[in-house]
Amino acid sequence: MTIIGTALSTKGGVGKTTTLANIAGLLCDLGIRVLLIDADVQPSLTRYYKLASRAPHGLTDLIQSGMVTEDHISRIDLLHPDSTIAPSEGCLDIVCSDVPDASLEVWLSDRVDRSFRLKNALKSPVIDERYDVVLIDTQGAVGALQQTAVFASSFAFSPVSPDIISAREFASGTLRLLAELAPGERIGLPVPQLHVLICKLSRTRNAKQVAQHLREEYRNQDGRKIPNINMLEAYIPDAVAYCDAATARLPVHWIDPAKAGLKMHQLVWELFPSLQGFVANACEGAFAVELDEGDAP
Ligand SMILES: Nc1ncnc2c1ncn2[C@@H]1O[C@H](COP(=O)(O)OP(=O)(O)OP(=O)(O)O)[C@@H](O)[C@H]1O
Ligand SMILES: [Mg+2]
Repeated sequence: MTIIGTALSTKGGVGKTTTLANIAGLLCDLGIRVLLIDADVQPSLTRYYKLASRAPHGLTDLIQSGMVTEDHISRIDLLHPDSTIAPSEGCLDIVCSDVPDASLEVWLSDRVDRSFRLKNALKSPVIDERYDVVLIDTQGAVGALQQTAVFASSFAFSPVSPDIISAREFASGTLRLLAELAPGERIGLPVPQLHVLICKLSRTRNAKQVAQHLREEYRNQDGRKIPNINMLEAYIPDAVAYCDAATARLPVHWIDPAKAGLKMHQLVWELFPSLQGFVANACEGAFAVELDEGDAP
């Protein structure tokens, strides 16, 4: 069964697109078949990697037609800069964002079935036949597109940068949004588990304190609360490698295999435990790299 995950945060600029693109790049490199869906009106994910071919349609037609076909799927060109390294068995495709304004959001908001729209579209045969993982990127805001993405997902993950403003916004924005969606359960739309990721962790004492506070606040949830929160042990440091990778339009584990690559492997392993066999084999050696304890929150 295809695993469907959404990057969700009502706060902008916390690292959703960057982290999602790098998770996807690593999964593909590990031989996994990945489809990205750029559900953000600002097409940052669409522009993240180089496209090998662009499909005639994108997000607008997917949402409005209520199905996914070949005509929605663009191909990403993920070639290792070292041409002696053979491409993996995996694939990385994308449904591009093609929404220049709020028109799709308005269209969706007016639909009675807006909450089911993406969930039903992802039941299209092409998804089950062709992809192991679907990853959806959303805008740092609250709206119908975010809601339909949450309900389509088997999990959501929320990067939180460890500064006090982002931490407060996480509680008053993202968690509140999910709590408001909780009644969906009565009509067959449960809110998925939320994985919280400390992202862009800098080496400052303040960042470490806020990260520690977040860990204490959200660790040991009993699973009955809504949303059901899992605080990830993995975290993503604030590191120039992520910016360099975005500039080079490559996954960060190719740019900085030892440090950023290790962090990405740890994250992928924790987010996708059912893919552990793949990850364990592929990162043999990577775990020999010593953790830089100075980074740990
Ligand atoms: N781990 C990281 N270390 C350093 N910089 C990062 C890291 N992750 C992301 N960034 C930078 O932070 C900025 C915001 O990242 P990104 O666009 O991924 O956030 P976002 O949550 O998707 O934002 P939006 O809500 O606007 O879509 C970008 O300039 C990106 O290069
Ligand atoms: Mg983004």
